[in-house]
Amino acid sequence: MVVKREEIQELFREAADKGIAVPHFNHSDFWDMSFIVEAAEEQGAPVIIACLPKVIDAIGIEKLGAVAKVVMEKSSVPIVYHLDHCHSVDTCLKAVDHGYNSVMIDAADLPLEENIKAVKKVVDYAHAKGVHVEAEIGQIKSAGEEGYTVESELAALEDAKRLAEETGVDALAVSIGSEHGFYQHTPKLDYALLEKIHGVIQVPLVLHGGSGIPREMVRKAIQKGIRKVNVGTQIRYTYIKTLGETIQNMGAGTHTADIMEAVKIPVKETLKEWIVTCRGEANNGWK
Ligand code: 13P
Repeated sequence: MVVKREEIQELFREAADKGIAVPHFNHSDFWDMSFIVEAAEEQGAPVIIACLPKVIDAIGIEKLGAVAKVVMEKSSVPIVYHLDHCHSVDTCLKAVDHGYNSVMIDAADLPLEENIKAVKKVVDYAHAKGVHVEAEIGQIKSAGEEGYTVESELAALEDAKRLAEETGVDALAVSIGSEHGFYQHTPKLDYALLEKIHGVIQVPLVLHGGSGIPREMVRKAIQKGIRKVNVGTQIRYTYIKTLGETIQNMGAGTHTADIMEAVKIPVKETLKEWIVTCRGEANNGWK
């Protein structure tokens, strides 16, 4: 099912009404894209399949957009194909033209005025073509990155408000203490800050760096206003680790398709656990 911006907004409205979140999973190739679709269809849940610029560099934006278009058309659940953490306005615009129905312009490392300018450019172009836009406020860095503290990069309430109001952006990634990648310590999420931002901003808020955040903390963040949960590292790790083990077990001469049949089992289990985390154990929505 292909969805345009208005339907994506509707998904987030529904999530807000039900107090749940839409899951976002980063993919690296066609196989894991298929696993994500299968997991979502089996759960009856909408899903956001996200593509980092690194994947575009490796495969090509045209090919990815074309494949995603067919995948979306054929799926029984709403699928969003999202460009994730793109620092380039031009690449965001290209993605809009190549079938992505959602893009994230990540200009959070720039001064606020510059961030606003970049987001506005993408919003103006994307909205005219029915494409949803996410931006970031405060910086969500990688776990273990040198030279910064999580606290110094938290989103500033006033900045979040300005970015949302002055750009008309559709979703906002907020730095509330999460990091990308595997955490070196249990993360500390600033729920008070999240509540404050949620209190003044209407746009859906996004929790990045899902891998490694304990489920009860993610659930609490959803209760306090998070409407999209991003998970990447854990999916990639499960995929690659199982791939290596499966090749060892089945033998290097085994056909890729047979290897992938085995690999998809643990990857789909991981995906489904996250889908359940996003909708809550009580089956509050999306089955
Ligand atoms: P993780 O890789 O830490 O799960 O973060 C994913 C993410 O936030 C992608 O935008």
